Amino acid sequence: MSPTFSRNETYLDGQEIHTVSGFCRSDSLNLGTLIAQAPRIMEEQKIPASRPWRLTELACSDGRETWSIAAGLAIQGIPFQISAYDINPIVVNCTRRRYDYNKTYLAEDLQRWGLPAECLDFFEQGGKYLKPNAKLLKQNIRFAVADARRDALAPADVVIANNFLKECYVENSPSLLQSIGNAATCLEPGGLFTTNDAHYASIEQTLAGNDLYPDPIFGRYNYPHFYQYQPVSPLQ
Ligand SMILES: C[S@@+](CC[C@H](N)C(=O)[O-])C[C@H]1O[C@@H](n2cnc3c(N)ncnc32)[C@H](O)[C@@H]1O
Repeated sequence: MSPTFSRNETYLDGQEIHTVSGFCRSDSLNLGTLIAQAPRIMEEQKIPASRPWRLTELACSDGRETWSIAAGLAIQGIPFQISAYDINPIVVNCTRRRYDYNKTYLAEDLQRWGLPAECLDFFEQGGKYLKPNAKLLKQNIRFAVADARRDALAPADVVIANNFLKECYVENSPSLLQSIGNAATCLEPGGLFTTNDAHYASIEQTLAGNDLYPDPIFGRYNYPHFYQYQPVSPLQ
């Protein structure tokens, strides 16, 4: 078994916050699906050739999830821009560093999301450390410290919120309401919101309250991970 997660428990406002992340996490298979379906989704969203597909990732932690998504898109030659946010400056700082990891484990991780082994070429091994290739991946990613509940987020065709909403889940939690509400404001009409945390009725209700409904295509076989933003011109 490969060590998939890093644990860097830290504290914010006196409260412990969990910053666990990993490459191609087993509980984040919705992102493998997103990557595999990317060309079709982009076509349906009518993304103009003049601009990249814009993804906004909430709660990116130390960036392992972000690099995994980037590698899966880059290997397909998809033009993309990821804006990745986390509230914790300590983990955002880690996105600039190398990871105590190796390509053997990463190869297993890539398989988990159904990504081709060639994605390994986007990473460089130096001793016991792994470093994403800055030229190939990093130019398309912007990491920043931001509070997903209230800070302005980059406009997005896709918002990713994995292993985050349940962190702020308490019945009728203001954090949950604010985070989803704020994310909805940065989504383009017809945009896609994906989360692996929609097991709770309150999360579903909060999504619907922000014009986010189960995506009609993904909904059939991957419910409840994908939601479509439907206020103006829903996708067919
Ligand atoms: C369990 S980690 C998830 C990391 C990554 N999405 C993944 O699945 O591997 C949760 C992250 O949420 C971040 N977080 C908590 N509250 C936040 C907020 N209000 N805005 C942005 N990030 C937040 C924490 O700092 C932590 O890094």
